[in-house]
Amino acid sequence: MNKETITIAPPSGKLGVLIPGLGAIGTTFIAGVESIIKGYHKPIGSLSMTGTIRLGKRTENRVPLIRDFIPLSRPEDLVIGAWDIFEDNGYEAAKKAGVLKDADLEKVRHKLESIQPMKGVFDQRYVKKLHGTWIKKGRDKMDLANQLIEDITTFKKENGVERMVMVWCASTEIFIEPGPVHQSLNAFEEGLRNSDETIASSMIYAYAALTCGVPFANGAPNLTVDIPALQELARKNRVPLAGKDFKTGQTLMKTILAPGLKARMLGLNGWFSTNILGNRDGEVLDDPESFKTKEESKLSVLEYILQPNVYPDLYKDFYHKVRINYYPPRGDNKEGWDNIDIFGWMGYPMQIKIDFLCRDSILAAPIVLDLVMFMDLAQRAGMHGIQEWLSLFFKSPMVAPELYPEHDLFIQLMKCKNTLRYLMGEDPITHLGLEYYD
Ligand SMILES: NC(=O)c1ccc[n+]([C@@H]2O[C@H](COP(=O)([O-])OP(=O)(O)OC[C@H]3O[C@@H](n4cnc5c(N)ncnc54)[C@H](O)[C@@H]3O)[C@@H](O)[C@H]2O)c1
Repeated sequence: MNKETITIAPPSGKLGVLIPGLGAIGTTFIAGVESIIKGYHKPIGSLSMTGTIRLGKRTENRVPLIRDFIPLSRPEDLVIGAWDIFEDNGYEAAKKAGVLKDADLEKVRHKLESIQPMKGVFDQRYVKKLHGTWIKKGRDKMDLANQLIEDITTFKKENGVERMVMVWCASTEIFIEPGPVHQSLNAFEEGLRNSDETIASSMIYAYAALTCGVPFANGAPNLTVDIPALQELARKNRVPLAGKDFKTGQTLMKTILAPGLKARMLGLNGWFSTNILGNRDGEVLDDPESFKTKEESKLSVLEYILQPNVYPDLYKDFYHKVRINYYPPRGDNKEGWDNIDIFGWMGYPMQIKIDFLCRDSILAAPIVLDLVMFMDLAQRAGMHGIQEWLSLFFKSPMVAPELYPEHDLFIQLMKCKNTLRYLMGEDPITHLGLEYYD
């Protein structure tokens, strides 16, 4: 893409937001958006709504809000729809999720109650701990995909939305590796017709979205769109893709802290992370097969940031352990402990302890909003396939096959803002700054 030739279609009309999974994150997102529209709360935690972007030299003092700089939809323009495997409306689901206080829920009750989930596509094999009751029936997986496509087209028509974005906010599926059916679009479609058991429910949603030209972002660590077949479909239909696994909680902290340790050439002997959480996500992750998907997503972060091969004296053989413990009394209010054993000058050991009393869905909801805004922007700017510039929102950023993912939050942020500058024909900022001292 050449900066002179980029045209960004205006964000006219309404933008549909389609969410598989009306759980803790889904309902916290909806309640938050409505609270922002009504002026009860500011969009704290959202880069697209609250962030600024510096343009040109530091002496120019040009620092607009991102949303004033680049044409984005407004929260008022969003029309939200969801699927779930339980029939609860948004208000009932939010009550059960227990993230938000009653006082905050009551103020947006009307909006939440108006969100009645469509029946989900669900295969018990992929989420062992849930026993859904609001599930589509179909002859085969292609039939189920077609039912989702029907849902999407009906939603578009009934709500008069111009464009849509789908963000997966449903439960974490079991760990699977790409198999033969995932290798090409032909094989995948054949697999749908044969109800191939290696096609997970999340893949069926993604297939439906991409077939309808709807950008798809994966908030969970499932394989989903990390397969050649669906990437081929995204290329064919020129649709943006992003994933995977919202970067919140401990991993967010890791990608903030580890670049700092590396910047100062401090060594690492070990990093032990454990946490307790008691929401439905925690219950699903109590199943070892779902946990394995999460574990894979969480473990690779330090390897990529610290580059043990490049810095063997500092990072060779550091011990990294991640544990998630389902502990119902805590609900969504997770507590995460990190014990970090580092070493410095002359090898002297030091320790860092983190006790993060975080709220998972409070950290995740603004990411959903940012993904909706930026994925829609990407599509209007003619970008398609993997959107690596949105890495800062994910634990396991998707990248081109020949690349390793960039996990350092600060590099990710720079990449994101430089992409926005590029789209608007502004110079990227390198932070070289020698010109100030000429
Ligand atoms: N909260 C975080 O900080 C965070 C961070 C990264 C990733 N995630 C991931 O985001 C996802 C959602 O998290 P949550 O806390 O909202 O979980 P949740 O359990 O509260 O909500 C998930 C919802 O998805 C529904 N569901 C499951 N399978 C479905 C299907 N096939 N179709 C439609 N609905 C389905 C469940 O019934 C539930 O209502 C999880 O996969 C989680 O691992 C969460």
